[in-house]
Amino acid sequence: MAALTGAGMSAESGVPTFRDAQTGLWAQFRAEELATEAAFRADPQRVWRWYQYRRELIAAVEPNAGHRALAWFGKRHSGRLTLVTQNVDGLHQRAGSGDAIALHGSILQDRWLDQPRACCDVRNIEPGAPPRCPVCGNLRRPDVVWFGEALPTRALAAADEAARSCDLMLVIGTSGMVYPAAGLAHVARRQGALVVVINPAETELDEMAHLCVRERAAQCLPWLLGASH
Ligand code: APR
Repeated sequence: MAALTGAGMSAESGVPTFRDAQTGLWAQFRAEELATEAAFRADPQRVWRWYQYRRELIAAVEPNAGHRALAWFGKRHSGRLTLVTQNVDGLHQRAGSGDAIALHGSILQDRWLDQPRACCDVRNIEPGAPPRCPVCGNLRRPDVVWFGEALPTRALAAADEAARSCDLMLVIGTSGMVYPAAGLAHVARRQGALVVVINPAETELDEMAHLCVRERAAQCLPWLLGASH
């Protein structure tokens, strides 16, 4: 079995979905305007502060019953579930799905913006918003996949393999708008897997799914997976 999850998985933990309207200071921006390399290069401080805001929000929440049900199933039926997530919040991992395939990276880690040189040493970073290399000024950036960037090759290959070999794919809490992640559902369907969408709202993948469960993930997954949580 494969599970492809999106921001809706974390909605009941209190993490706004990617296309939820931004709030507070960030209400004037759309996420798509901030989550790009160009936006970061144009105003590193603004984009960095937006990620710091999201990191603080994530640090204050807990995985929900949906995250825990998937982690329980993965442990109870070892090797039977491949969890692929578009989420960068680390909540699947905190719930116990340590082997979750993180297609869009992790908001909890940083990496160098430009190719690191010998002087770019993570032990010698100059604090700031964003932090930088004190020698060459190379900036640190969140280790997430920004719009227009390629997904991590190994993660995408592992996710594609799971889609090609599964007999059932649960597509949970995602609008199915963003490729190549959403394309994994089509890969599964084409090779004969049963595709089930779990989402309280309509999604771009409803048409191609065998079944749409109009339920919230935290409500539906514990009973669907037989998870005691
Ligand atoms: N349970 C299940 N689904 C839910 C819940 C819930 N409790 N609450 C909301 N949803 C659904 C919404 O109906 C919506 O379809 O979650 C989905 C969230 O959609 P998006 O905000 O588009 O998030 P996602 O599909 O994960 O976005 C994909 O696009 O912007 C990029 O990198 C970003 O990973 C993100 C990717």
